[in-house]
Amino acid sequence: MNVRDNVNENPNGGISHYAVNSPQPFEVPEQLLNTAKQFRESMMQYSCAIREVKTKLEVLNDELSIRNSRNPIEIIKVRLKKPASIVEKLQRRGLPVSVESMRQNLDDIAGIRVICSFVDDIYEISRMLARQDDVTIIAVKDYIRSPKENGYRSYHMILEVPVYFSNCKQQIRVEVQIRTIAMDFWASLDHQLKYKKQLDAEDAAEIGEELKKCAEIIAGTDWKMLDIRRRIEEKGGVVQR
Ligand code: GTP
Ligand code: MG
Repeated sequence: MNVRDNVNENPNGGISHYAVNSPQPFEVPEQLLNTAKQFRESMMQYSCAIREVKTKLEVLNDELSIRNSRNPIEIIKVRLKKPASIVEKLQRRGLPVSVESMRQNLDDIAGIRVICSFVDDIYEISRMLARQDDVTIIAVKDYIRSPKENGYRSYHMILEVPVYFSNCKQQIRVEVQIRTIAMDFWASLDHQLKYKKQLDAEDAAEIGEELKKCAEIIAGTDWKMLDIRRRIEEKGGVVQR
């Protein structure tokens, strides 16, 4: 077989041949190649949307840190959902597994986690983000005012932001989770509990109860820390690092 035969020669129009140096030619349907290209393009767009929102958050943090002499944001973490998790979530929800379905149905392919020092910073950052006129709020879940049954606390926003490409503007969805350092600490341990499949039901329930108690203590401490900071500020002091 000639190497040239396998590259770019597509007599059927529907099949591409890739078998360079391979004893058996294998065929990649054109449709699959198109889907892979669309998927990569979508992921590139989500990744750009993450950068746009991250910059907005950094700008707010810079401005607020001058105004209040302290940084409201401790850390910004970003992540793009992995292809296997995208497929798993679509299948779990009984939705078609396609690029179009993923774009229509999944809000958390682009994810940003904002870790703040104090609870009031969470609300201030979320209000300021929501006020920006190129940010569209799709949904908000306030798990701080209404914690989940297991004790989970965080402020979730699904946003849409415009991203400008060479010949078009795309509205892209981004999930933003805003929480305190303490809430983040709690959520990471809770996350481990969820993925420890070898735990038997009794142990898992017992650990779940312990975690729930910790969530209450952590929440109490978060509000107390805020109260202390406000008292220091009232006395004319500035909480600075
Ligand atoms: P998902 O299908 O997980 O995306 O949930 P949802 O569409 O109902 O949205 P929700 O806002 O409840 O949760 C979105 C994300 O928040 C999750 O993917 C997690 O990152 C985080 N989250 C929600 N609940 C919990 C929880 O109980 N524990 C932890 N550790 N994280 C949680
Ligand atoms: Mg999710």
